[in-house]
Amino acid sequence: MRQGASRSVTPRYSFLLRQSAGAHIASHHSGEPVASYDIGVIPGDGIGPEVLREGLKVLDAVAASQGFTFKRVDYPYSGEYYLKTKELVPPAVIDEWRTLDAVLLGAIGHPDVEPGLVERSVILGLRFGLDLYINLRPIKLYAAHLCPLKDKGPADLDFTVVRENTEGLYSQIGGHLKKGTPDEVALVNGVYTWKGCERASRYAFELARARGAARGAEHAKVTLVDKANAIRPQDIWTRAFATVAEDFPDVQTDHAYVDACCMWMIKNPEWFEVVVTTNLFGDIITDLGAMLQGGMGIAASGNIHPGKTSMFEPIHGSAPKHAGKNIACPLGAIGAVEMMLDYLGETDAAARVERAVASLLTSGAVPSADARSGISTSDMGDMVVAQLRG
Ligand code: IPM
Ligand code: MG
Repeated sequence: MRQGASRSVTPRYSFLLRQSAGAHIASHHSGEPVASYDIGVIPGDGIGPEVLREGLKVLDAVAASQGFTFKRVDYPYSGEYYLKTKELVPPAVIDEWRTLDAVLLGAIGHPDVEPGLVERSVILGLRFGLDLYINLRPIKLYAAHLCPLKDKGPADLDFTVVRENTEGLYSQIGGHLKKGTPDEVALVNGVYTWKGCERASRYAFELARARGAARGAEHAKVTLVDKANAIRPQDIWTRAFATVAEDFPDVQTDHAYVDACCMWMIKNPEWFEVVVTTNLFGDIITDLGAMLQGGMGIAASGNIHPGKTSMFEPIHGSAPKHAGKNIACPLGAIGAVEMMLDYLGETDAAARVERAVASLLTSGAVPSADARSGISTSDMGDMVVAQLRG
């Protein structure tokens, strides 16, 4: 069983993430060396720019007080930009992204652009182009009133999904035959490589081991989620997972088919510690997870290649109908900044941001992570900054 006292301990992810990545050392005006990071910023479409502005506000505040600096490099790619220029992300820009320490993304998607065109260019461009093979999605409930489940509270909802991020049904291998005719055929290939399954599983086991170290051995557990009964080739996941498990005798293993996983997430979410799954299943179950932790407005993610440039984003989309009204919840974007700080090795800064957000939610100062909170996007950013200072 979980212990109340250990609840406040948040194992940071950085030991898994940072490795060779990290700061350049710049010189402070006092002559003291300070860490400096190059951060790419892609505000994107819809509510993306509004929420990311608040994320950057929090980043500015925490950088100033923790004594590190960053250089911001802005990129215009979005549906809006595409409509004006017909330009998607050029290959040279992907090369440039590789030279940064991290990238922050707001949201991509515009109602007047063909569905998915710009998302594939920017989001999948980053994920595939930078080989960001882990999509890390913490599902953590900070206050019981945010959760739609009856009788479930923060002690029941605190797990992390490790979503494989470069393969599966997102492979882009496929196409149409006789498109637009009654004989049309549409094909898409689900790609699962041993390397992809192995490295995602290994990451999940490392994460579970760290949770065990921070919270107690019973928290060292990984659940593989797949559909290897109906989609038989997915047994490559079963076998890769079992092979990696041999290196982690201290980590318990579990398995759920994805349909049952959805059921358990509602019925007994406390059973999950770390979940590892395919790209598409991870996409789906993390929207469900977001609702359990308070809504799409609060969920954040890291697109990670340990030791290399990684990208951080809220998991929500561009929500065009809410755009420009200063009502979108910026906590997902602020959570993305927190995950980025952790990745960069600024673990104290990350923990401070998390504590600030958590205390605003537990005290009820921020009553919900959506427009019903009655707090504007910019005011909520200011509240997080004030809480950080307080
Ligand atoms: C997500 C999003 C993306 C995905 C879309 C925008 C391509 O839903 O990050 O979860 O499917 O991965
Ligand atoms: Mg999604």
